[in-house]
Amino acid sequence: MLINRPRRLRKNAAIRNLIRETILNVNDFIYPIFVVEGQGIKKEIESLPNIHHFSIDQLKDEIEEIISLGIKAVILFGLPNHKDACGSSAYDEDGIVQKAIREIKKINKEVLVITDVCMCQYTDHGHCGIMKDDYVDNDETLKYLSKIALSHVNAGADMVAPSDMMDGRIKAIRNVLDENGYTDISIMAYSAKYASAFYGPFRVAANSAPGFGDRKTYQMDPANSDEALREVELDLSEGADIVMVKPALAYLDIIRRVKDTYTVPLAAYNVSGEYAMVKAAAEKGLIDEKKIVLESLTSMKRAGADLIITYHGKDAARWLKEEI
Ligand code: PBG
Repeated sequence: MLINRPRRLRKNAAIRNLIRETILNVNDFIYPIFVVEGQGIKKEIESLPNIHHFSIDQLKDEIEEIISLGIKAVILFGLPNHKDACGSSAYDEDGIVQKAIREIKKINKEVLVITDVCMCQYTDHGHCGIMKDDYVDNDETLKYLSKIALSHVNAGADMVAPSDMMDGRIKAIRNVLDENGYTDISIMAYSAKYASAFYGPFRVAANSAPGFGDRKTYQMDPANSDEALREVELDLSEGADIVMVKPALAYLDIIRRVKDTYTVPLAAYNVSGEYAMVKAAAEKGLIDEKKIVLESLTSMKRAGADLIITYHGKDAARWLKEEI
């Protein structure tokens, strides 16, 4: 006779629920919001079905819906009207993200406002920093990233999330925030951010594709795993409060390694390409969207992510409510 029968614990939903190891929770979601200049704009983004560009005056309904679904954190991405070599709109006190932060805090001051700190949407060349010849100048870029982060916090951001992958940016930003009295503002570092094709739909959405070349001299090689641990280590030593692995689905092994090695909160970014592929397959009737999304998000948590940035956030929150 067989003694060990794992199927005993799969017999019915009650038993399965009792022994379930990973529970997806709406508290873990961060929902991305794209803001644009102008008025009366709520326009679906072609590359990201059911995700919209919002002008500031259209944010109220969206924020209230997000809150009513139980999501408590958003991450902002801005599309400026003006681009130049040093991304000056990114640190303008009246820049698009700065205005959106103030508006969201006016709508509801409890919502946690996180900002993506980067230059690629704001530079005319589309790279994530200041160019010197054909190369992004690391240390010159740090000055700008610090200015951008400070301007977001001045506008009321609760947390900044640098996504540029320059060396030393966490230290530079931490120093500037502390010097300005913002010792309690946290930093979520895009620590292991890979040079990935999965960002394609985002670059259309944010109009941020590099005008020439690629991002391989600053974002990580998808073939590397030890290097992810070195990046996380550096960011933590520079003062990061939360670290991130990005993208998520093709990098679950990296999430697991980081989780096994460090005890800090770990974010996974379920990126635009992952989202767009699911939407396209669902649209074609090839997959069950709800099941695929909940399974994928659960796998990110199972791999070790504590929080998840996801465009599926609102749908997943709705579906999780239905399950209860
Ligand atoms: C900005 C930034 C990018 C993403 C988040 N912040 C694009 C990039 O690095 O090219 C991608 C997010 C996504 O694909 O959902 N640097």
